[in-house]
This record gives sequence, structure tokens and C-alpha cells, in this order.
Amino acid sequence: MTEDPCRVVVLGSGRGSNFEALAAAAGPAWHIVAAGSDRPDAPLLARAAHNGIPGFCRDPADYAGRDAHDAALAAALERFSPDLVLLAGYLRLLGPAMLDPWHGRMLNIHPSLLPAWPGLHTHERVLRAGDREHGATVHFVTPELDAGPRVVQGRLRVAPTREGSALAARVHRLEHCIYPMAVDWYANGRLKLEKDMAILDGEPLVEPVVIEEAACA
Ligand code: GRF
Repeated sequence: MTEDPCRVVVLGSGRGSNFEALAAAAGPAWHIVAAGSDRPDAPLLARAAHNGIPGFCRDPADYAGRDAHDAALAAALERFSPDLVLLAGYLRLLGPAMLDPWHGRMLNIHPSLLPAWPGLHTHERVLRAGDREHGATVHFVTPELDAGPRVVQGRLRVAPTREGSALAARVHRLEHCIYPMAVDWYANGRLKLEKDMAILDGEPLVEPVVIEEAACA
């Protein structure tokens, strides 16, 4: 018996390059049914329209506070009956109205080798600290910022003489490789969250799967 494809909604505030990579990688096991943003002018929404995927925006300026905005966003999401929600550069902290219903069904991608460098400006911080390795992490979303159970990391060796923008571009390429990978695992029933532990193929992911840059070329 063939199961229905996993319905995925992508949320982002910015340019939407991960959305584009995900849309290109979708296949029989999953497809993107909508893209949502907190910014009416987010290029992500234009990319969605270009791909024939519905977009929606819930602008925080239209709501009394975070809880009201989260509730509106949650209601907008529900209209698309997603099985999985992907954060891809969604720049607002989410509260319980958004987190609770999607516990175990929401992933985020972050541009660092978590737990190193949660938060913003990761490439600059990596270069300033002289780190030898950098990359990106896909993790389940929990209330703690960038701290949920890790699933997969794309890893590269830092070339310190390169500029931050070149490093950022390399990390983005890793992101476009590992995010669809994690979604494939989830959609095929291989990846889940159990008791706050990521499980892949029945085994707890004590450490995330690591994909080297060369494998993403
Ligand atoms: C990515 O670097 C992602 O890791 C971070 O925000 C950025 C989003 O980029 N959370 P894009 O909008 O997908 O191009």
C-alpha cells in the first residue's frame, strides 16, 4: 500500500534559498504544500509563488503580542494540514502556541556545528574565534533556541584567509544538501523524536550524522 506523501510547510523570514533547494528535492515521499513568513516582502514568498506553491504571511505588526501572533501563525499552518514544519531562517522566537502542537514534527536548520555558536552571525564568530571547522545543523525544534536534538550536520574545514561571504556560501551549499536529506528520513519514517531524543532507523542519535563537504558537492 502506498502512503500519502508527507505534507511539508516551510517557514522563513528571508531569501528562501533553503526553500528553493527543498522544493527542488521533493519527491514521492514528501512535497511542500505551503511557505509562510512573518515578513510580507520576504523573497521566500516570491520564490514560493514562482514554484506554484501557496504562500502566506502573518506580520507581527498586525497582532497585539507574540502569543497572538503565534496563534495566528498556528491557525494559518493548520489550514494546510502539514505533517512536518520546517524552519528555514525564520527569525522570530516561537512560543508554546507554535511549539506544542508541532513537537517532534518541526525541524530547524542552523548555520553552525551546534552546540557551537547558537544565535546569529555564526560565520563571523567562527572566523573571529579561529575555528578550524564549521558547518550547519538540522535539529528538532524545542523551546530552547538552537538547542533541540540534532539530526544531521554538514561539515567543512575553514580556510581562514577566505572572506566571510565565501564561508557563508559554502555553509549554504551544505544546508541545501543536508536539509532535504533529513526531510527524506522523516518522510520515509526513518527519523522521529522520542523522549526528546532523535531516533534514526531505530537507533538514538547520540551524535548527529555528519556529512562532509565533499559529499555535498
Ligand atoms: C540559513 O543560513 C539558515 O541556516 C538560517 O537562516 C538562513 C536562511 O537562509 N537559519 P535562506 O533564507 O534559506 O536562504
